[in-house]
Amino acid sequence: AMIDKAGYPHFMLKEINEQGSVLRRALFGRTASDLIDLSGEWGITPEKAKTFKRMDLVACGTSFYAATVAQRVLEKYLKVDIRVDIASEYRYRPLRAGGDTIAVFVSQSGETLDTLEALRHVKELGAYTVAATNAPNSSIAREVDDVIRLNAGIEIGVAATKTFTAQMAVLILAGLYLAKLRGELPGADEKRLAEAMKDLPYKVEQTLLLKDVVRSLARKFGAARDFLFLGRGVSYPVAMEGALKLKEISYVHAEAYAAGEMKHGPIALLDEELPVVVVAPADELLEKTLSNVEETRARKAPVIIVTTENVPDVNDVSGTIKVPMTEAELTPFLTVLPLQIFAYESALLRGCDIDQPRNLAKSVTVE
Ligand code: G6P
Repeated sequence: AMIDKAGYPHFMLKEINEQGSVLRRALFGRTASDLIDLSGEWGITPEKAKTFKRMDLVACGTSFYAATVAQRVLEKYLKVDIRVDIASEYRYRPLRAGGDTIAVFVSQSGETLDTLEALRHVKELGAYTVAATNAPNSSIAREVDDVIRLNAGIEIGVAATKTFTAQMAVLILAGLYLAKLRGELPGADEKRLAEAMKDLPYKVEQTLLLKDVVRSLARKFGAARDFLFLGRGVSYPVAMEGALKLKEISYVHAEAYAAGEMKHGPIALLDEELPVVVVAPADELLEKTLSNVEETRARKAPVIIVTTENVPDVNDVSGTIKVPMTEAELTPFLTVLPLQIFAYESALLRGCDIDQPRNLAKSVTVE
């Protein structure tokens, strides 16, 4: 079928706005009211699931950040050693992986060469391999043992948006399902997370309504040359994804740091000219991140906070974006959205070619 922009000025904006329905499709058939069940598409047996001692999540770019969110969520439930790595590093490492390893390759296109080679590398060692991909007929999909589909619909914008959302969803669902097969997922957590996920698509749509607030912040910082993005826990990969989006399409330098690591370097950069975007939803790390906001404010750096509705206003910041409340593990589905819009609006202001940014390709099939 012909894919058009459906009235949007750019594919990226169309794809950002599709994320509620993308998430509905990613959850469809995999969650019931209080159950997580992938048995319809993933034939792994409980016996097989119990053999794993190690899970490797491997990807590039935005897919790597989705994998990192999943790792942070799943390590709480899945009692295996979960590692996450960039494909171009993983493929050359001396892996101690083998038959006790489940290796998950996260690739929107299923054609990224480094990811494909990483898959071949660990497959040779005897690992059980799974792909999370939007392209079920791709090279990666053909070579793995099992495929979990994103069902996100074709993504045209070079900067990935809706596939990031779909990847987080399928990785979290598949990992929780694996934990369930292993007898490690308490029924109460399954119910709590399944119910919270069911409410997410609507909350995504509510969050997308914040676009005017985000646009005015992008304008306020339209002349900034550098940005620092901070987050902890699940919000650290969200900060990385926010910085990546800004670099990719607006060509503004942006660096992401784990908030607790700021004191080991980036703090030296802070002044009036370095806006700091802090991803700080309500979770068990909020207080720690807010103390980083204090440190930042004390050095006169302007702060934009992305938080949840239940968090009281922080004084003396340049902007606050409040997304709906959800379970702490699931906040990345909402906090990433203003960062995608911020990058989009910043690129628009700077006159950049949003759907075809310079030097980048949608799918990288070279080393
Ligand atoms: C390229 C794209 C990114 C994407 C990355 C990984 O760099 O520009 O948007 O995140 O490849 O792609 P994959 O298809 O493997 O997810």
